[in-house]
Amino acid sequence: MKNFTILAVLSLLLLSCKSAPSGDYAFEDVPFSVIPYPSKVEMSEGFYEITGAKFYVDSNLGDESLDAVRGFAARLHEVSACKNKVKAGAPAKFKDGVRFVSGAVSDNPDSYRLEIDETGITVTASGVEGVFNAIHTIMQMLPASFFSPETKDARYRVQYASIEDSPRFSYRGVLIDSGRHFFPASEIKKCLDIMALYKVNRFHWHLTEDQGWRLEIKKYPRLTEVGSIRKETQVAHWRDSLDHKEYGGFYTQEEVRDVVAYAKERGITVIPEVDLPGHMQSALTAYPELGCTGGPYEVATTWGVKPDVLCPGQEKTFEFLEDVLTEVMDLFPSEYINIGGDECPKIRWKECPRCQARIKELGLSDHDGHTAEQYLQSYVTNRIQKFLAEHGRKIIGWEEILEGDLDEGATIMSWRGIEPGIRAAARGFDAIMSPGYYMYIDRYNSEEWDREPVSIGACLPTELVYSYEPCEGVAPGAESHIIGVQANLWTEFIASPDYLEYMLLPRLAALSEVQWEAVGSRNWERFRAAMDHSRDIYEAMGYTYAKHLWGIVGMPGYEKPARTPEELEAYLKVRKGPWEMSYEEGKNLIIK
Ligand code: ACM
Ligand code: ZN
Repeated sequence: MKNFTILAVLSLLLLSCKSAPSGDYAFEDVPFSVIPYPSKVEMSEGFYEITGAKFYVDSNLGDESLDAVRGFAARLHEVSACKNKVKAGAPAKFKDGVRFVSGAVSDNPDSYRLEIDETGITVTASGVEGVFNAIHTIMQMLPASFFSPETKDARYRVQYASIEDSPRFSYRGVLIDSGRHFFPASEIKKCLDIMALYKVNRFHWHLTEDQGWRLEIKKYPRLTEVGSIRKETQVAHWRDSLDHKEYGGFYTQEEVRDVVAYAKERGITVIPEVDLPGHMQSALTAYPELGCTGGPYEVATTWGVKPDVLCPGQEKTFEFLEDVLTEVMDLFPSEYINIGGDECPKIRWKECPRCQARIKELGLSDHDGHTAEQYLQSYVTNRIQKFLAEHGRKIIGWEEILEGDLDEGATIMSWRGIEPGIRAAARGFDAIMSPGYYMYIDRYNSEEWDREPVSIGACLPTELVYSYEPCEGVAPGAESHIIGVQANLWTEFIASPDYLEYMLLPRLAALSEVQWEAVGSRNWERFRAAMDHSRDIYEAMGYTYAKHLWGIVGMPGYEKPARTPEELEAYLKVRKGPWEMSYEEGKNLIIK
């Protein structure tokens, strides 16, 4: 009987762990390289092995936390071939292992505490946000092989530590522009994987543009049948650099739901953007009656700001927007919906009898430094805000929505500089800082433009992203209105997944410290040292990334030979950057 019990226990062990942990395994240990660096870190001597460990989740943490832990345990199982059982229950019953306990660490739901000692790992968090953040910290404490699809029979341990962590901002975002160029859902998911690891918690998905409508809307099938396809694409900085190749792509609603669920499984909320009333040329091409002139229009083939926008002088425009947003709300559970509002030239509205009649009916006039047409845009914004509020949603819009008479409750995204964000916060609006100078990661990675793939212009090295202070200039009493920071990856010239990743990484890592670190806690040397581990993770996960931090300029596969210091000096003399860009109402983007 005794022998039988021993056999049964042994076979259970073998079932849960192919190579049972033993003492002489050569563990791969990495120096503590977690990005963003946690608020308090104390390391001590000793390691806890998590291969095959049992996971316990406090039932009070809820089902989403349980799912998050299951996801982590499943990954660990994949790379180690040892089962990591996950049990939900009351902490009093927890044994040695990886324990997730419900408890307030601070009044910030993102906070967590992590204790690692000989009994295992204890995570304390008040809910799923803290649980995800703790998991992403533990993951970054593991060697890069943990992230590789090749890894099968590895064993992992983490050093004893006591960590307490809490972010500076609640909104930690990244925008990807799927309008100018379409990236398959699989690529979007790949980007979400690395965003999650750096504790980015908002994915702003720019889905509609003059150059392409990328979101299936059942009630308006022509949006994707017609609006997702352009006849050719501008491929360099001059307008006639057209490639004469048809280009298109869109996400089905099924794919969108899948991406939203995938993001949620990683602690990320997807915030869709339907940019209105400007940047709508693709929709106008599909439904010309929505414009002031009635068209004909064509899906834009060149970059820049386009004069044809939605006509708010007619009710059918609002019916269209409400119908589209109704489907959008069904697809995206996010409380915030981004309604764009940027770069909406008013020249068509000035000449449109319907728009002018609407201006008259509403009693709008030029005053307080704004035109009647700017107030007409406020009318559109406020009406859409009200519609979304009736469905329990809030709006975010680009800073232009401040021009005129914005209703309270809107959140502003400051992009042309920091001043609109400062002004918005002073007026009591929440604001997200995303100034181009620091946060437009569509810009060149280095000043050596001729060694970089062609981009929109200017230069934003990782160091400059890292140096951004989001509350600079904000009145102390208004700082609580700066709810977050976001980097924007526009894609005029970014046509392939590898180039997308090259622009994202490692600037994303620098962004995450701007979003997370308390004032005065960033440290470039510490960050730079930790980036070596991040680089190994990029390699393991198969990302393309910019290698400037490691002395290599240019896209992998496209690098040019390094220049001598003399050549570089001569080059910089002729190419003083950054290029200046501007737009004038009614005209296209001008690159000087
Ligand atoms: C923007 O870059 N047009 C928001
Ligand atoms: Zn009109």
